[in-house]
Amino acid sequence: MSPHLGAELTLAELELDPYPALARLRAHEPVSHVPDLGMWLVTRWDDVVEVHERPDLYTSATEPSWLNTVLGPNMLGSDGDTHRRLKDALQPSFTPSATGEWVSDVLPGICDELIDAFDPAGVDLMTAYAEPIAVRALQDALGWHNATWQQIGEWTRGVCAGLANFTNEAEPAALAARANTESGASIRERVVPRLAHTGLTADEIVNNVRLCMSGGINEPRDGIALAAWALLTHPAALTECRADASLWRPACEELFRWISPVATSTRQTTADAVIGGVTIPKGDLVAAVISSANRDERRFDQPDRYLLHRKDGAHIAFSLGPHVCLGAWLGRSTVRVAVQRLFERVPGMHLAGDVAIRGFEFRGPLRVDVRW
Ligand code: HEM
Repeated sequence: MSPHLGAELTLAELELDPYPALARLRAHEPVSHVPDLGMWLVTRWDDVVEVHERPDLYTSATEPSWLNTVLGPNMLGSDGDTHRRLKDALQPSFTPSATGEWVSDVLPGICDELIDAFDPAGVDLMTAYAEPIAVRALQDALGWHNATWQQIGEWTRGVCAGLANFTNEAEPAALAARANTESGASIRERVVPRLAHTGLTADEIVNNVRLCMSGGINEPRDGIALAAWALLTHPAALTECRADASLWRPACEELFRWISPVATSTRQTTADAVIGGVTIPKGDLVAAVISSANRDERRFDQPDRYLLHRKDGAHIAFSLGPHVCLGAWLGRSTVRVAVQRLFERVPGMHLAGDVAIRGFEFRGPLRVDVRW
């Protein structure tokens, strides 16, 4: 077995299907420097947990920070008191008490409205269902109602194009600049006054709402589409969920473990760090690979299988430690209700073509075509 698996690994391979490569790394090189990514990948459960729990040694406030450059300084690109202040200010908008009624009383109606508008010839669930639900969840949580969900969806694509533009290409940079300007004006007009009581400055609110767009729209969208696809390709599990409504929750949680929509948490070492017997020099970038930890055979039995009745304990698809997902409760509730409603309302639904799932850092289907 090659002692330098990381040196051979490319971003292209990871984007196509990261799981075989991650299994090789877990087995033979669990802390691995990958020159193509310019960072270390940490792939075993225990080590991934350790990185998240030691912000003193593995900081989110990386230097330079692409996240802070594109979005403006924000909670995910900061640590310590600054991080706490930003997160404490926004957290109340996403708690179960703030969004619970929306999930139980409003979301089912949004799902019905979209299902009623389905083209009888068949739809792509990503565009006809998952994306509008994901955008409307964030819009309603923030009271962001001076723009349509289509417009916010387009701005989100622009912001994400900027975040993915590591090589500074002109076209995505222009797209991101326009999305930042237009969404910034809209957030300033409608969301900033609503959050003025938090004590954050207008810029802090704008930057962190942009972070919520990039993190809080794509993931529930991919989660809804992936969970629907997982159940359509595991018909026995779907039959069980239809017979017992308490199973929709574990069906979605198992999806988040099996295909985690967010693959990594990026950190930077503040000193030489020894992990898994390897020394990572001070200042190097480290990706704690959540999607690999969630398939670690040391923690999960038959980790590559989607098993509805799994008894192995919790996954970490929403991260852990100080940067645990701000929208975890809303995100997982949105996915569960959307999936349950879809299958309850459209009984004979089946896939109408192959589904290509792509991406490493953000993984989801390109489209999910269905008919019924
Ligand atoms: C439903 C699927 C979702 C998944 C799988 C997911 C996953 C994650 C993960 C893994 C992180 C940690 C990243 C890190 O530690 O570097 C994170 C952070 C974050 N997420 Fe989510 N997320 C989801 C939904 C949402 C939603 C709906 C929102 C809307 C507000 C949101 C907003 C955020 C924010 C603001 C952070 C940064 C928190 C911090 O720095 O303290 N996410 N998310």
